[in-house]
Amino acid sequence: MEIGIDKIGFYTPHLYVDMNKLAYERNVEPEKFTIGIGQEKMAIAPLTQDPVTMAANAALEILDEEDKEKIDFVLFGTESGIDQSKSAAVYVHRLLGLNAQARAVEVKQACYGATAAIQMAKGHIALNPESRVLVLGSDIARYGLNTGGEATQGAGAIAMVVSKDPSIMVFEGPSAYLTDDVMDFWRPAYSGEAFVDGKLSNEQYIAFFSRAWDQYKAKTGLELADFDAFSFHLPYTKMGKKALKAVLDEGSEADSERLLANHQIGAIYNRNVGNIYTASLYLSLLSLLEQNEDLQDGSRIGLFSYGSGAVGELFAGRLKNGYREHLHVERHRELFATRKEVTVSEYEEIFQETLPTDGSRLELDIHQDPANVCLSGIEGHARQYVNKASGIREEKVAAHVER
Ligand code: CAA
Repeated sequence: MEIGIDKIGFYTPHLYVDMNKLAYERNVEPEKFTIGIGQEKMAIAPLTQDPVTMAANAALEILDEEDKEKIDFVLFGTESGIDQSKSAAVYVHRLLGLNAQARAVEVKQACYGATAAIQMAKGHIALNPESRVLVLGSDIARYGLNTGGEATQGAGAIAMVVSKDPSIMVFEGPSAYLTDDVMDFWRPAYSGEAFVDGKLSNEQYIAFFSRAWDQYKAKTGLELADFDAFSFHLPYTKMGKKALKAVLDEGSEADSERLLANHQIGAIYNRNVGNIYTASLYLSLLSLLEQNEDLQDGSRIGLFSYGSGAVGELFAGRLKNGYREHLHVERHRELFATRKEVTVSEYEEIFQETLPTDGSRLELDIHQDPANVCLSGIEGHARQYVNKASGIREEKVAAHVER
């Protein structure tokens, strides 16, 4: 049975900051951000967008009534989840109006969460061939103002329907994966921002890719020449290029040219969004599929997922005949084109806005946010969501907790 990606959707908030202007304000040469790190624009999430709303917005653009009926598993990869107990998948399940006969869980292992979700989805579909699984990756990357990681922040989500007989990509063959306990990046439960050892994280990323590649070759007998492209988890676009370069001397000149050119195309969306943690690999895949018009049906694409802490996995997929017809190129062009630039001081203001944590009520102005699904406020510690597309305002489910 063929299992893979049947549909893929994307969402990023409508605000961004220009990295040249951020560099200027931080007293850094712009080329450090635009060339050294490889980022042009950084998506900024207003308070009306959180990982739940972004995932729901990404899913809204791809689901039809049949999907809503047939999806029986919602797997939500995130490392910036909104609750230590309740899964973000449950909120999205409700906001999208999915069939109640479904499982809904959150998956966590840093940026690897959505890949773990894909592997679980494969197993679920192998046992239940008629199932459709909604795999979500959605994150807001936060390191803090004026920190070393600031230029590698971002916000956005990817939604994928994984099923048998998929329209876009079939997952093929064995996967290579490894785990090692490394303190390169983590976020304690009491912190809204990540802690990171930047240099160590870069080294570990490359080491994990090299080890996974060696394991993959031993398992499959495939070489660089067998791949049309590799998509990487892209915390910043230069990172994937560095990892790819670490293995390129194994191949021919033509392999290097092809793989580097496709890496560049696969980094276009990420350059303009920033790090979206769990969804970054799949954003890069989407960028490659939508922006490389010459990519042939049947192309084999390697996918490298890295979740600090750390888990790495390398697997592959082949493009289905006619896959381009199932993409939303024009809609994504429009999503990027209609974004609004904010100044660095506006970004700093937005960054510091927070929801009350004392149980008080806050109503947010959702009319400033063009997205369909928005966070409309908080009441009694319970986030309130609105899906403008369905005209449904979430019931006020305030938690009446007496303290
Ligand atoms: N023109 C061109 N290039 C320039 C330049 C200039 N004027 N000035 C500097 N550069 C280059 C540097 O040479 C360097 O390039 P190389 O890495 O190829 O040598 C690059 O710009 C970055 O410079 P620094 O290494 O000095 O940058 P930094 O120390 O300030 O921080 C960072 C870089 C470590 C990535 C930091 O942004 C960070 O900590 N980010 C968060 C952690 C991260 O993203 N890690 C990636 C792997 S972990 C992972 O993948 C999981 C995840 O999502 C977090």
